[in-house]
Amino acid sequence: MVEIVGTGSSAPEKVLTNFDLEKMVDTSDEWIRTRTGIRERRVADKDTATSDMAAQAARRALEDAGMGAEELEMIIVGTVTPDMNFPSTACLVQDKIGAKRAAVLDIGAGCSGFIYGLSLARGLIDIGEYSTVLVIGAETLTKILDWEDRNTCVLFGDGAGAAILHTGDKGRGILATYLGGDGSLGALLALPAGGSRLPASHQTVEERLHYIKMAGNEVFKSAVRAMGKSAVTVLEKAGLSNQDVDLLIPHQANLRIIQATAKRIDLPMEKVYVNLDRYGNTSAASIPIALDEARRNGLIKKGDISLLVAFGAGFTWGSVVIKW
Ligand code: UT7
Repeated sequence: MVEIVGTGSSAPEKVLTNFDLEKMVDTSDEWIRTRTGIRERRVADKDTATSDMAAQAARRALEDAGMGAEELEMIIVGTVTPDMNFPSTACLVQDKIGAKRAAVLDIGAGCSGFIYGLSLARGLIDIGEYSTVLVIGAETLTKILDWEDRNTCVLFGDGAGAAILHTGDKGRGILATYLGGDGSLGALLALPAGGSRLPASHQTVEERLHYIKMAGNEVFKSAVRAMGKSAVTVLEKAGLSNQDVDLLIPHQANLRIIQATAKRIDLPMEKVYVNLDRYGNTSAASIPIALDEARRNGLIKKGDISLLVAFGAGFTWGSVVIKW
């Protein structure tokens, strides 16, 4: 079995509240709270990039695991906000933490990036390729937000979370994973320019095409469907029922999506970890930040079952069941 032996997270100090946003765009604390559940989010300063927070989260996870960076054999980073197109953010993190032996890879699976990373790392450890893999979800989404677009700028925030996976004992660790996607709906949540389709130009900048574009309502409906299905499917794969789940750690995009996911598997909200009121939607970082907080707050005990469920750009979705 493959166990999680350490977690860590990191977020910028600067807090941007809904009341701050009221002064920037035509919105209100009331609208944001009732439609999303978000009260405030963290915002990286101009000198902080994704790899900086990712490396900080990684160092904390290593400390938690009682390991040195040289023990890492692979680093996987889920992000849609890499420091640059290349080298990958995983390469930058490897250098920052001094993990000289580690292979390095970024995953572009939107908000599901951390779950995709966990599933991939588990597979690589299972086949005996590696015994210790660092998986990170890290984002500086506030740098790709259109601060004049109230449909998106109130939703997202910055942060990073990390987990170290290691060959473990029989009977505990990752029990099952499930991944899915639907590329036909990709345009509903995208950053249109800056790639090979629409390289950066004066025109793409003028047309504000380097910012997140989202058809919120359609994304919302797909998220509810896919997260519900992911939760049910992975529990089936693990041979478990909803009664076995001690804590659901869902992607933190919208409280109403989280409530619908819990309802789909008939789980009371007391068993659901929610921190989007403090961070907003941090995309690939949301689940590992929540996981780290839940562990450090003593909400996960030995023998507990945790269910992680994600949905994001692509569309992508996925879920993981862990026995601690
Ligand atoms: O992380 C990956 C995936 N992302 C998500 O899962 C996000 C999914 N989507 C959502 O969370 C929700 O769709 C939103 C929170 C983005 C929007 O909530 P909604 O209930 O779907 O609202 P809506 O898009 O249908 O918009 C309702 C109204 C519109 O006004 P009209 O056209 O009805 O007059 C918007 O213009 O709310 C308006 N609106 C706002 N009003 C005040 C949109 N944004 C704001 C705002 N403040 N910030």
